[in-house]
Amino acid sequence: MPEIELRNISKRFGKVTAAAGINLKIKSGEYVTVLGPSGCGKTTLVKILSGIWEPTEGDCFIDGKKVTGIPTYERDLGYIFQNIALFPHMTVWQNANYAPIVKDWDMEKAEKETTESLELVRALQRKGFKPFELSGGEKQKVGIARALCAGSKLLILDEPLSALDARVRLDLRYEIKRLVKRKGLTAIHVTHDQEEAMSTSDRIVLMRAGRIVEVDTPENLYNRPKNLFTANFIGEANFIEGSVANNVKSAGSEPLTCLSDESVIETRHRHRLVIKNPGGAFKVGDGVVIMVRPENLSISHREKDFSLEGRILDKIFMGSYMRYRVKLITDDTVLVEVPEADDKIFNIGDKVNVKFRPKKLLVYPQPSEGLKEVLRLE
Ligand SMILES: Nc1ncnc2c1ncn2[C@@H]1O[C@H](COP(=O)(O)OP(=O)(O)OP(=O)(O)O)[C@@H](O)[C@H]1O
Ligand SMILES: [Mg+2]
Repeated sequence: MPEIELRNISKRFGKVTAAAGINLKIKSGEYVTVLGPSGCGKTTLVKILSGIWEPTEGDCFIDGKKVTGIPTYERDLGYIFQNIALFPHMTVWQNANYAPIVKDWDMEKAEKETTESLELVRALQRKGFKPFELSGGEKQKVGIARALCAGSKLLILDEPLSALDARVRLDLRYEIKRLVKRKGLTAIHVTHDQEEAMSTSDRIVLMRAGRIVEVDTPENLYNRPKNLFTANFIGEANFIEGSVANNVKSAGSEPLTCLSDESVIETRHRHRLVIKNPGGAFKVGDGVVIMVRPENLSISHREKDFSLEGRILDKIFMGSYMRYRVKLITDDTVLVEVPEADDKIFNIGDKVNVKFRPKKLLVYPQPSEGLKEVLRLE
């Protein structure tokens, strides 16, 4: 089974750097998604791995073997292109059946694999159609089927579900993953849809502007993102800027090197927030950014501990929960998610208290280039 390594990969197109110093290892049998905003270099990365493009610098290894200079067809991988290109003169069946025929499998195995792949994407009933008779989404499904039955242990899927409607997208993402796991394939799935990445991946590779920002499991990227861009790109995040005011535990004259069990952050306009178990090395006076997910905030009409005053700007019904946008007294605007069962109808314009769960606040050093710059998508 293939184990992948990208070593110091860069790709430049004139002045554009599409990939810069990419280092990545993927274990065999892993389902990894490459996630990031449009233009960040996701397609570039998989085109280099598959040999469609050669890197400007660096090398790729598949199964420990350096593949630099080796053409795509000798790298033995299934590739689903972002802009799907079916063979126009062939039917759906012939497109899907292409690799088994080229690889000269026995007829029974070829037919079984092709049928199974076309069934998975629900395109078997279209098997006699030519690509010009298919919709964009149907072509995409045939492209998926063709790659699935290429018989390769490495599968590269570049936005495989982008042309499909929401319901089919949802079903297919799980079915593709199930099939990949059942066959013991290694998969690299490119998407800009963070929910798709969260729900299918063993690990997510988050990219921005040609670089890898962070690689980790969906749980870690959501609950313990190492940096602010990740926190913002994966899930919803609220940010509050402030500085370390004191440390409740060691309120002596000793300078702090580390936030202890319970610390106080002074926000804008000199309000205060208590944080428990934040970790990290900070001194009193250091500028920080607090990150908190909307489900770790709640609102109430009464004043509570660990809360800040605010005014409701907006409320949106989201089905199982209500989402409020609240302008805090600190001038920060936050999203608050209230489970439907707990929602006691708050109205736009209401003055409320926003309660913070002190153990769910994460603290980051104030970035020198400013918060806005760090969160910027390009
Ligand atoms: N052939 C090319 N010539 C010049 N620039 C290119 C070429 N291909 C890609 N680029 C540039 O490289 C950068 C990365 O492109 P890439 O296609 O890898 O992005 P992406 O993350 O896949 O985006 P999307 O989500 O929109 O598909 C972009 O700025 C793009 O304009
Ligand atoms: Mg792309």
